[in-house]
Amino acid sequence: MVSSVCLAELGHSVDLIEIDDAKVASLNSGRVPIYEEGLEEMLVKHIDHCLKVTPDYDNICNTDATFVCVGTPSLSDGSADLSMIKSASSSIGEALLGSRKYHVVVVKSTVPPGTTEKVVIPEILENRHLKNQDIGFAMNPEFLREGRAIKDFMKPDRIIIGSADDKAGDFIESVYRGLNAPMIRTGLTEAEMVKYASNAFLATKISFSNEVGNICKDLGIDVYEVMKGVGMDHRINQYFLNAGAGFGGSCFPKDVSALIHLAEDLDEDPILLKSVMAINELQPKRLVDLLEKRIGHLSGKRVAVLGLAFKDNTDDVRASRSIYVISELKRRGARVAAYDPKANNSMQSILSDVDYCQNAAEALNNADACLIMTEWPEFSALDREFDRMKTKVIIEGRRILSCAGFEGICW
Ligand code: UGA
Repeated sequence: MVSSVCLAELGHSVDLIEIDDAKVASLNSGRVPIYEEGLEEMLVKHIDHCLKVTPDYDNICNTDATFVCVGTPSLSDGSADLSMIKSASSSIGEALLGSRKYHVVVVKSTVPPGTTEKVVIPEILENRHLKNQDIGFAMNPEFLREGRAIKDFMKPDRIIIGSADDKAGDFIESVYRGLNAPMIRTGLTEAEMVKYASNAFLATKISFSNEVGNICKDLGIDVYEVMKGVGMDHRINQYFLNAGAGFGGSCFPKDVSALIHLAEDLDEDPILLKSVMAINELQPKRLVDLLEKRIGHLSGKRVAVLGLAFKDNTDDVRASRSIYVISELKRRGARVAAYDPKANNSMQSILSDVDYCQNAAEALNNADACLIMTEWPEFSALDREFDRMKTKVIIEGRRILSCAGFEGICW
């Protein structure tokens, strides 16, 4: 979605192919089925002008390039599920039969190194007739953060273009010519690995801060002051050093697990990556343990949980730390009153038997304790609302209120 509207914004004519009819209908009427800042406005601006949404692959043969942006979710063993990559590639191959002009197939999905060469290209070229056609292949990973994806697309730190040959790479460079960013040219597998290594490194920064934060907590040290000092070193920088209940979302947990799986398949033991995940799994439990230390047995206690999505500014609850925290609270007998500005509905479909509230004040009513899980700006403005609590025990899973002296998981 984001790539489509932003490519349209750059002046290209875009066909967005979506095989789910309900989504096609929704997008064609100008409605985006998820919450992503600025996305609906961009859709409305471009739909029916330079952006078409269709379930058909047929028009691909009249276009210059196809970006493959399908999901690669985790399988139960942690490896990446490439079934959507395969089926999209085979549909592209069929659609390109009979095409007379040069066409570039660009993989944008996050895929394990080697996938473009070993899965996408063979799947597209499976039909013998295509072998003589002029098709180029490229791999162009995206580094967009949910909630800020449009800004990240329009102002990237870098654009990575992996290609099988110069012609395909040059073409992709020309697609992005409107953006002011360094373009790095690599091979296909290198581009695939840049994406995994980037996400793994960011996840490592977070787990590192959480581990240091856990030590700081024992010593009575404020980890945020420590990391501010650490991040001033330009070799480290200040980003992604915010300690808390750990990382969630559809990317870091999935991609680090896939990299671990890939390494183990190669008989490597990825000790660092496994520790990054282990620290992350333990953080939500530490938060609940800390709460129990403060208010005693949780059985029968009412706990307000503010922030349900995996971070602020999104309604996405995939691998959200709140899922683990709420499940653990309930396992220990607590009653949970939950609120998120955007994600109540998405969480409701995963966890029932939770009192979903319309605002933070309602969740705080008569609560024995409150856990703040994400950095929604409206949570930092909470003040008198806490007076509604039975006992004012407030613990942050992400630093948002601490200027007012509240306790946090690592501070
Ligand atoms: C992440 C990357 O940041 C993007 O560059 C990448 O394109 C994307 O994955 C992807 O692979 O598609 P995203 O998952 O949307 O983006 O969200 P982030 O802002 O990176 O946050 C991920 C998690 O880390 C959240 O749970 C967040 O709360 C947590 N986090 C982030 C911390 O705990 N501490 C921090 O300092 C920063």
